[in-house]
Amino acid sequence: MLKCDIPTSEIAKGLKGRDLLTLLDYTSEEISYLLNYANQMKKNMLLGDMPPILAGKTLGMIFEKHSTRTRISFEVGMNQLGGQAMFMNARDMQIGRGESVYDTGHVLSEYLDGVMIRANSHEMVKELAEHSTIPIINGLTDIYHPCQALADLLTILEVKGSLAGYKLVYVGDGNNVAHSLVIAAAHMGMHVVVATPQGYEFNPNLLVKAKAIAEANEGSVLETTNPVEAVTDADVVYTDTWTSMGQEEEAAKRLEEFKDFQINDELVAYAKKDYMFLHCLPAHREEEVATSVIDGPNSYVFQQAGNRLHAQKAVLASLL
Ligand code: CP
Ligand code: NVA
Repeated sequence: MLKCDIPTSEIAKGLKGRDLLTLLDYTSEEISYLLNYANQMKKNMLLGDMPPILAGKTLGMIFEKHSTRTRISFEVGMNQLGGQAMFMNARDMQIGRGESVYDTGHVLSEYLDGVMIRANSHEMVKELAEHSTIPIINGLTDIYHPCQALADLLTILEVKGSLAGYKLVYVGDGNNVAHSLVIAAAHMGMHVVVATPQGYEFNPNLLVKAKAIAEANEGSVLETTNPVEAVTDADVVYTDTWTSMGQEEEAAKRLEEFKDFQINDELVAYAKKDYMFLHCLPAHREEEVATSVIDGPNSYVFQQAGNRLHAQKAVLASLL
């Protein structure tokens, strides 16, 4: 489905034991490999073929924030791969009352085969990875959400049959989900447009990096504050909440400042007829997206949420 010129055995060897923090340090071939692997695993599962590749392995899952999809899909994924997952609320761990990240990383590496962590600070996750000898998988930080991006691309791949050359438009807050989506799509040679209100732009350093990745893969990344211009002729229209976890006190101000960036029937009329609507969820109907769009015929949000399971199983099987 996706072109990959390097032998898969070479790529598989290179992924073993790695962290998954941002996707910036993954090659386009490695991302293609993970998407192809996820696609194959999903097909095999539907045929009842689920080899216990991770029998005897345990994934620790640390959460500093709420989660439905990430927690459940990782836990189910580990079970389906023959291993087990252990949920840990960061507040209940000693790290929640001041134990160092250094000690925590060293200690967890004695028990576990990998850690998936959802944290407030990306810097903390980086530090944990530096002091751990097991793979650390980012389950969302203030800057990135790489596992979400893999599921997003897997969904587009399933529907469109390929990724390179398609126009993917992200409308809304230049947040963690946007950063990872754009980096991953750039790797796959997509034409990406990011439309945000002024003051809520995509991280400028990451924009430079994403543009360079896209150019190397014959894709492109553009930024605008005009949602109509962005969505015109889009193959995929993506949005996320205007108020991420931890920003609740800004909610009223954001509702006002994002109001022209809602994905509604008027806006998607500029997209291609067979456009796909995607949202990482949780969604806020009648805020970032009109009910008629998210519950309409072009919406793939539940298939997308389901693909968290398959994309992450490919990550777990490859890294652990
Ligand atoms: N999309 C996503 O990460 O959902 P959760 O917050 O429910 O894990
Ligand atoms: N941007 C959102 C994504 C939730 C999955 C947040 O960080 O809350």
